[in-house]
Amino acid sequence: MEERIKRWNDLKEKCLRCTGCGLAEKRTNVVFGEGYLGAKIMFIGEGPGQQEDEQGRPFVGRAGVLLDKMLGSIDLSRETNAMICNVVKCRPPGNRVPSQQEARCCLPYLRAQVAIVRPQIIVCLGATAVKHCLDPEAKITKIRGRWFEKKGFWLLATFHPAALLRDPSKKALAWEDFKAIREKYQSLG
Ligand code: URA
Repeated sequence: MEERIKRWNDLKEKCLRCTGCGLAEKRTNVVFGEGYLGAKIMFIGEGPGQQEDEQGRPFVGRAGVLLDKMLGSIDLSRETNAMICNVVKCRPPGNRVPSQQEARCCLPYLRAQVAIVRPQIIVCLGATAVKHCLDPEAKITKIRGRWFEKKGFWLLATFHPAALLRDPSKKALAWEDFKAIREKYQSLG
């Protein structure tokens, strides 16, 4: 675990100094990601919003409060057994979707995070995570709730919590997805 902590901290230090794309110019803080370094499960969002940018922590706004509730409902938390990261680590102005170039520039950090944590399960939260981590052509509405085995990881896509706040009718499907996540998590022992 000590080696893992060192690798994580070294990567974080590098990421906090990153000026690899235009998002660096407007950020207040880099939002590297946080959670349990020995986590068997990693959740991947799109990128920081305003509050995340201000605090330097992922999913701390309204969507984050909902995410924490949903994690809690299946006995997960960022403090004890889950890791939370984003596709891009700096806030896209006005919360626009990160461009292909911004994502391409930032993805090596996410890949390195996955290599350090080595989760067994990766959950893509929303379309941007699906596009960059699962399948660039896939539609979230089509593939959510299904398991994909890729490079030794179990991947599942579900709605982004912000989408659930915009359209609460999606919550029932999201709850089905979270039950499937709990089952898979428990089956991995
Ligand atoms: N939305 C995301 O995708 N990530 C965050 O960290 C916050 C909101």
